[in-house]
Amino acid sequence: MDYIKIAASFDPSADVILYEGDCLDLLSQIPDGFVQLIVTSPPYNLGKPYESRLDMGEYLAQQKTVIAECVRVLKNTGSICWQVGNYVENGEIIPLDIVLYPIFDAFHLHLRNRIIWHFGHGLHASKRFSGRYEVILWFTKSDTYTFNLDAVRVPQKYPQKKYFKGPKKGLLSGNPLGKNPSDVWEIPNVKANHVEKTIHPCQFPVELIERLVLAMTDEGDWVLDPFIGVGTSAIAALMHNRKAIGAEIMPEYVKIARERVRLAEEGALRIRPMTRSVYDPDMPSANVPPQVIHLRPRVAQPELFETDSHYIAPEQGK
Ligand SMILES: C[S@@+](CC[C@H](N)C(=O)[O-])C[C@H]1O[C@@H](n2cnc3c(N)ncnc32)[C@H](O)[C@@H]1O
Repeated sequence: MDYIKIAASFDPSADVILYEGDCLDLLSQIPDGFVQLIVTSPPYNLGKPYESRLDMGEYLAQQKTVIAECVRVLKNTGSICWQVGNYVENGEIIPLDIVLYPIFDAFHLHLRNRIIWHFGHGLHASKRFSGRYEVILWFTKSDTYTFNLDAVRVPQKYPQKKYFKGPKKGLLSGNPLGKNPSDVWEIPNVKANHVEKTIHPCQFPVELIERLVLAMTDEGDWVLDPFIGVGTSAIAALMHNRKAIGAEIMPEYVKIARERVRLAEEGALRIRPMTRSVYDPDMPSANVPPQVIHLRPRVAQPELFETDSHYIAPEQGK
């Protein structure tokens, strides 16, 4: 039987690298131009259990150091997707994409989209409107970049609509493969009753990252998440035959990330499928059930025992 090869430090022969520690330490091990996509949600400086609240200038300086390394390890055809929300202090908000943009701009990255991720659940504000979106800044390193639009098209609203006059009269007016998903994405965030929920307070939904992985990488490419949390970016990458590398400072989250990969390998990890529409109480029967992932096996078992840097944890994820 074959296994997914999980390494604990940089190892280009692995399928997934889950580094327990500071992302800068992992980044320093990665060669220039190694990864095709960097997708992450960095700490928002909100004083969550995994971060100490910093002065905004200090926070931005830290982010700049990480971003500089990300730019170095990114392929020339690659993309960076930095997913952020608001920093909040005394009821006043600072949208982090606004203050981070000048850093990316200074590295001469090209902003392709400012994607609005809209979701339905969150805190109920009483002195301002409740926040129900966050942002993904999508940058490319150059003007020649991977963008597989057909891989992420969504169903047309009226798929049978036809031209009613002119030379194309009678032909379908929309692309039969579906339409461009646009830059406003309605995807449920991972709250208590979400099928993917772990102990992490702010994990990505897998489907959010799947869309980015499918659009911005090809099979075999490396996807890096410097703040990987419970490994959602790795799951999305592995599901589509990409390779994944990420760092996480909290050991309990790394453990869960490893368990999720093993569960996916065993065919026992449940996710919310990309094709499921947002819950509509008027049409509950239209809902697609959770999808069970079964990763395609890659490497022969003996390779797992080659070095100490590989986790061998068949008992995990049961
Ligand atoms: C917003 S969460 C990301 C969650 C992730 N997207 C997921 O789906 O699980 C940010 C993560 O970065 C981790 N973190 C904070 N500082 C870090 C650092 N210097 N290096 C690596 N990870 C760090 C935190 O522990 C936290 O889990």
